[in-house]
Amino acid sequence: MMHTPIPDPAVSQTAINVLTALLEARTGQQMASYRSWRIDTAVKPLMRARGLETLDQLVTQLLDGQDRDVGDLIVDALLNQETSFFRDAAVFDQIAEVVAEAEAAGRRVRIWCAGCSTGQEPLSLAMLFTERAEARGTPIPEIVATDVSEAALARARAGRYTQFEIQRGLPIRRMVRWFDEAGGDWVAKPELLRAITFRRMNLVADHALPGRFDLVLCRNVLLYLAPATKVAVFALMARSLQSGGTLVLGAGETVIGQTPDFVPSKTARGFYVARG
Ligand SMILES: C[S@@+](CC[C@H](N)C(=O)[O-])C[C@H]1O[C@@H](n2cnc3c(N)ncnc32)[C@H](O)[C@@H]1O
Repeated sequence: MMHTPIPDPAVSQTAINVLTALLEARTGQQMASYRSWRIDTAVKPLMRARGLETLDQLVTQLLDGQDRDVGDLIVDALLNQETSFFRDAAVFDQIAEVVAEAEAAGRRVRIWCAGCSTGQEPLSLAMLFTERAEARGTPIPEIVATDVSEAALARARAGRYTQFEIQRGLPIRRMVRWFDEAGGDWVAKPELLRAITFRRMNLVADHALPGRFDLVLCRNVLLYLAPATKVAVFALMARSLQSGGTLVLGAGETVIGQTPDFVPSKTARGFYVARG
């Protein structure tokens, strides 16, 4: 049963409106009113760090323009960065098949992980393909991973995860093979991190492509974008793909009825082929 949270009278609607508008202006992410109660929870650590007691005080700091970082910090706090290793595990088998087909063209395969959050998704790809390279002598695809959040990217580049995070989706065998324990956390081996190029990119504002790719993963990123914004991002993804390249969306996401740029793959669910 869904519980509707009781509104906190201390949380001003005006402040909520300013913060949701900031999030949408910077990232395209819309926060529906039924989710807006989460704002207060999400920015609490930031407010605490700044000695602020109300959302209105935070908004005042944002609007007085004295501290340029506060907007970025608020956006980072509001973004949904939920992720895990080998999320929707079966998708990774399908990705391996698409990569094997692309390899048949005789060039090194390139993968773009758009909206990579704290790095679990590109690291899963790096593990998968490094193991495959060791077993079969196939080249490791080039992996470019981007996100709008500098804070998420800093964590991804460090490749450091808590015990709770490392256990989400990662079998013990891979954990001990690819991560070293450090002070109760787990740190990805340098060779794994070296397989990935991390870069900041805002999918709704930056139009320079990070390259041309055989495969683009953009999973669980576009769910809350306005329809017109989604169309523009799909067009960007289509431009970034080699002819016949593949886009992978999250479980429950689709291009159907949303863009003319892709058609569903005939063989893999959740995979979409760029109309050449
Ligand atoms: C829910 S996480 C998904 C992570 C990963 N793809 C997965 O499926 O596990 C969504 C990520 O998209 C990023 N994001 C949201 N809006 C973005 C934008 N406009 N440009 C680039 N990244 C964005 C967020 O910062 C967040 O890290």
